[in-house]
Amino acid sequence: MAPQLAPSILSFDFGDLRNPVCELMAAGVDWIHFDVMDGQFVPPITFGAQMAANLRPLGATPFEAHLMTETPDRHFEAFREAGCRRILFHPEATPHSHRLCESLRAMGVEPGVAINPGTPVETVFPLLGVVDIVLVMTVNPGWGGQEMIASALEKVRMLRAVAPHLHIEVDGGIDPLTLHLALSAGANVFVVGSYLARSPSIAAGVAALRAACA
Ligand code: DX5
Ligand code: ZN
Repeated sequence: MAPQLAPSILSFDFGDLRNPVCELMAAGVDWIHFDVMDGQFVPPITFGAQMAANLRPLGATPFEAHLMTETPDRHFEAFREAGCRRILFHPEATPHSHRLCESLRAMGVEPGVAINPGTPVETVFPLLGVVDIVLVMTVNPGWGGQEMIASALEKVRMLRAVAPHLHIEVDGGIDPLTLHLALSAGANVFVVGSYLARSPSIAAGVAALRAACA
């Protein structure tokens, strides 16, 4: 499966997101990843659907919302309306993951589930028929700039073994080196936050990540 880059806006200046989003789009990234934190499922609060709606007119690169929230379905319609093509939620936050994936599909949104480092990968096995993508968190959710938890890659390997055609996304601590490790484990979609924010330029950072995909 062709590797895809899905940079997160989390590590950029929230007072000036238009510029980095335009640069990401110009650099040809595959997705833009919105980290939505509600102060409940994870301690920090980031932003809601209005952020995606305001950035949506900047270009055609698809948006995905990563909902680190309790009661995730409460937010589905707003993020769909804001132009997110894909919505990922955490099965740890709801007893109704299967139904919520089906309801995203019925709304015309690609459904995805994201699992924390402490959640067994088997949690998503019953959902494989109703999701387009599984996100294996490679850090504990809530903050950018953490180091990758290497044991999460074992879950990627297990998932790839049972789901050869599934999009498997990794999120947390991704730079060119760890991207390569995750790619070797079977991941094909890479969320990148702080690495790009600290690169000399977004274009240079994206080029280094693309090179690591080769
Ligand atoms: C963490 C978020 C990640 C985060 C990744 O809770 O889900 O998307 O932005 O940032 P880095 O790449 O800095 O680990
Ligand atoms: Zn994320």
